[in-house]
Amino acid sequence: MTDAPTYSGPERILSGMQPTGNLHLGNYLGALVNWVKLQDRGAECFYCAVDMHAITMPNDPGALPGAVRSVAAAYMAGGVDPKRSSIFAQSAVPAHAELAWILQCVARLGWMERMTQFKDKTGSDRERASVGIFTYPVLMAADILVYKATHVPVGQDQKQHLELTRDIAARFMRDYDCAGFWPMPDPIIEGAGTRIMSLKDGSKKMSKSDPSDLSRINLTDDADTIVRKIKKAKTDPEPLPDSVEGLKGRPEADNLVGIFAALNGATKEAVIAEFGGQGFGAFKPALADLAVAKLAPVVDEYNRLMGDPTDIDRILQAGAERAREVAAPVLAEAKRMAGFWG
Ligand code: TYM
Repeated sequence: MTDAPTYSGPERILSGMQPTGNLHLGNYLGALVNWVKLQDRGAECFYCAVDMHAITMPNDPGALPGAVRSVAAAYMAGGVDPKRSSIFAQSAVPAHAELAWILQCVARLGWMERMTQFKDKTGSDRERASVGIFTYPVLMAADILVYKATHVPVGQDQKQHLELTRDIAARFMRDYDCAGFWPMPDPIIEGAGTRIMSLKDGSKKMSKSDPSDLSRINLTDDADTIVRKIKKAKTDPEPLPDSVEGLKGRPEADNLVGIFAALNGATKEAVIAEFGGQGFGAFKPALADLAVAKLAPVVDEYNRLMGDPTDIDRILQAGAERAREVAAPVLAEAKRMAGFWG
């Protein structure tokens, strides 16, 4: 028996964010900082604004194109370089939707029903949720596989979707007898900021959809707002512990230490080594100073870029052209294997 061929194509990086509301510190520390680092890896990078995912929940169609522009500006303000990475809107590359249909017929209902984010997003109102919110992770698999992406930098909340993507790729290759057609994409979930929690409740993820703006730091907040939000962040009465283990059972303290570490590109251990034993009265101002020092230039650059929307649109156009070029032959091959006519 000969070994089944394994994937031997080039490394490629792909990731995306939903253009719904402002990007926040969780998006930045959980994903964007790693996107920027990966540009040095020598692999081609594709970073999209997933507007097709955005319509799975109630949204304002009039605001969507502007939201895509805003996300693209935030990517660049955070350090994504359009000369090295393709930045584009998902809907500008129809191959995502076409491949998603094929993959929907590969994915099993049982796999989809296990997706925890679907349960979180729909809550008790499942009957009224769109079908799109249920099949959402399949579109995400198509986003990744249509570029044969080998690495996908994301926050921890996307891990299950990445596992599903691998299952779908494996099942497709088995069903259509085409081992090696797709890579098994590797999630890149790295650093101290892969799961940033709400500033108001350490048991809840920092999220765009939280009704309280005090729960998150937006990538559009000015310095005063950042300082105020950190000052008001929930804490407990104890000083910081002398070891990282001491953060167990103290979700708010753990979160603030994690944010400090991620902003500094350091570990929680390093933060505890510096601040262990100190109260929040000392730690919070240090965190606020660091957050302002790291985020103010991003906010300034974002505002500058948003002043010239035609330039952003030009970048989105060029990014989409490159993305279409790479996606077309992969989609054509998948369609041929599925037996499609023409
Ligand atoms: P989205 O738009 O919810 O989030 C974008 C990225 O930010 C990360 N993230 C966080 N990281 C740490 N702490 C948090 N509180 C936090 N909140 C969000 C997410 O993990 C993500 O990396 N389904 C995806 C978008 C998507 C995608 C893709 C991603 C569509 N297609 C293909 C990668 C590859 C989503 O809704 O992310």
